[in-house]
Amino acid sequence: MRYSLRNKRAIVTGGSSGIGRAIASALEEQGAEVHILDLKGEGDTFHKCDISDQQAVRDCIDQIAGERPLHILINNAGIGFVGNLEGTAEADLDRLYAINIKGVYNCALACMKYLKMSGGVILNMASVAASVAVADRFAYSMTKGAVLTMTYSIAKDYLPYGVRCNSISPARVHTPFVDDYLAKNYPGREKEMFEQLSKTQPIGRMGKPREVADLAVYLCSDEAAFITGTDFPIDGGFIKLNG
Ligand SMILES: NC(=O)c1ccc[n+]([C@@H]2O[C@H](COP(=O)([O-])OP(=O)(O)OC[C@H]3O[C@@H](n4cnc5c(N)ncnc54)[C@H](O)[C@@H]3O)[C@@H](O)[C@H]2O)c1
Repeated sequence: MRYSLRNKRAIVTGGSSGIGRAIASALEEQGAEVHILDLKGEGDTFHKCDISDQQAVRDCIDQIAGERPLHILINNAGIGFVGNLEGTAEADLDRLYAINIKGVYNCALACMKYLKMSGGVILNMASVAASVAVADRFAYSMTKGAVLTMTYSIAKDYLPYGVRCNSISPARVHTPFVDDYLAKNYPGREKEMFEQLSKTQPIGRMGKPREVADLAVYLCSDEAAFITGTDFPIDGGFIKLNG
């Protein structure tokens, strides 16, 4: 089978919802054993863990990877925030930093000694907001820019160990992340705003979690062995065709 992940063990952060859930299912379909780290969830391979808490992350990952080899880390968990510079309070900035940046660092750090042993893969969830300006996303864009540059750093520093590191940059993907944003910011106008947001992708719609998951499967598979230190937009033309 092409893109087989048989005998691979994976960790997916934020795997209980949206893109992370789709990635966890897709990896499982390809034969991987998938462990989910999230604040909420259920099942044998769900681990309740706040990725912003370094000690909790280390304990959780040591427990998973101490048993048998670990091959894949998907740093997917993240939170959104709408606001320009003046609309971003210090507490907002700190919260975004703690989860979207420090959370990625915590998980990569705790996994690295195991990934070095297996010649494993890290895949980070960035965003189009890491590469182009998106209105009112001051703090969020900052965090995704950091995810992108952490991807490059890790890829470079761990080349000698055979560890690959890439990122995916989605434009809008229809998940609870988007539904929550619409409910909070446009109560009563959700449908109208959903249409409007769909059209910000030149292709005319939002992405589907499964479309992101299929790209993730490829990037984690041995078929992608030549790919490291690269960001992959999956964006319906958002970055290049919005002129
Ligand atoms: N949906 C989009 O349009 C879109 C676009 C670009 C990038 N992204 C990125 O993709 C990733 C997933 O987004 P989604 O739309 O599936 O979001 P989602 O809100 O549906 O799911 C995110 C998951 O992360 C978990 N999570 C949040 N904080 C956590 C923490 N501190 N510790 C552990 N788990 C935590 C949540 O419980 C949830 O299950 C995020 O990093 C997001 O920034 C999403």
